[in-house]
Amino acid sequence: METIRLAVIPGDGIGHEVVPGALKILERLAELHGGLKFEFEHYDYGCDYYLEHGEMMPEDGLEKLKESDAVFLGAVGDVNKVPDHISLWGLLIKIRREFQQEINVRPAKVFDGVRSPLGSPKDFDLVVVRENSEGEYSSVGGRMFHEEHEIAIQSSVFSKRATSQAMEYAFNLAGSRSGMVTSATKSNGIYHAMPFWDDVFKEVSMEYPEVSTTSEHIDALSASFVTRPERYDVVVASNLFGDILSDIGAGIMGSIGIAPSANLNINGKYPSMFEPVHGSAPDIVGRGLANPVGQIWTAKMLLDHFGYEDLGGRLLKAIEDTLREGIMTPDIGGNSSTEEVTASILERL
Ligand code: NAD
Ligand code: IPM
Ligand code: MN
Repeated sequence: METIRLAVIPGDGIGHEVVPGALKILERLAELHGGLKFEFEHYDYGCDYYLEHGEMMPEDGLEKLKESDAVFLGAVGDVNKVPDHISLWGLLIKIRREFQQEINVRPAKVFDGVRSPLGSPKDFDLVVVRENSEGEYSSVGGRMFHEEHEIAIQSSVFSKRATSQAMEYAFNLAGSRSGMVTSATKSNGIYHAMPFWDDVFKEVSMEYPEVSTTSEHIDALSASFVTRPERYDVVVASNLFGDILSDIGAGIMGSIGIAPSANLNINGKYPSMFEPVHGSAPDIVGRGLANPVGQIWTAKMLLDHFGYEDLGGRLLKAIEDTLREGIMTPDIGGNSSTEEVTASILERL
């Protein structure tokens, strides 16, 4: 019997509405498997915790989380309680960085029966591999006055190590898929970092002669994601470009409520973290409108990560069958509640 110890952080907003259902599904799948067990350790870190304690998690928070095999997170952020840059840098981004989760994997694909803004899109199935620890997400810089004008300076940091590591991950992934990597660049406008990005991409691509490559500017690439998503397989991007592209990927699927993600620690020193792409969705909180599919598909990525691809496949099929039957939340054209969609997926396992 294998036991997987999960640190569970529902976080804020709809995190509390979508996480419990995904945990039930994980437990049910473990039961069906027979040789697998989950142990959940619940943590109340988030904006309410901040209001009470003045920080997003306690000083020994990371040490506690480190005892688990993985972190399963809902969403973080509630601007009515804590400014976003404080809450996110105090919890989500802190975990990603301190646990060296330097690779963020974010798939997007067509689901039958789901309302997409593309109408009836060609069958796309792509993965955004996002560098998850540096780039444009940097605390280097500051706000100051230059003569009488206030200015803000924000430096991006691109290391060859983390850049090439994200690219290598993308190439290896492409090797197990259709064998194509697209690099998201902006070397026409971003003077230092993006020509560097292109050089590293060329260098890494030499090691993978069997994988074909293209390099596209992020602006044109964003348009092309919408008009011809079927052209893409694996797309490697910097932290910010990958953030935006993965939301476009989610948007063309029909809703950011569907999209999953894995923040991977690939040196094995720390737990990885699994969370949906969407945020805490304050505008729909408490109304049963939250699409649980992003969190549940995230559970599938977790199962795959631990080598339970059979269970992961079973879960994806249950999601697909549920959506095909029209059992879905309003964001993708249905009229079912969070609980009804979750129950339907549970039943189909
Ligand atoms: P958001 O993803 O929370 O919401 C954007 C829009 O998508 C909203 O209209 C929302 O109702 C809708 N939406 C999101 N998830 C949905 C779901 N599961 N089902 C149905 N509809 C859904 O993004 P935002 O409004 O930019 O951010 C709100 C808060 O969440 C902010 O504090 C932000 O910083 C935070 N945030 C956190 C994460 C994270 O923890 N990973 C990610 C993104 C945003
Ligand atoms: C995401 C989110 C975060 C990010 C925010 C909330 C800091 O948008 O996980 O996509 O930009 O990484
Ligand atoms: Mn995002």
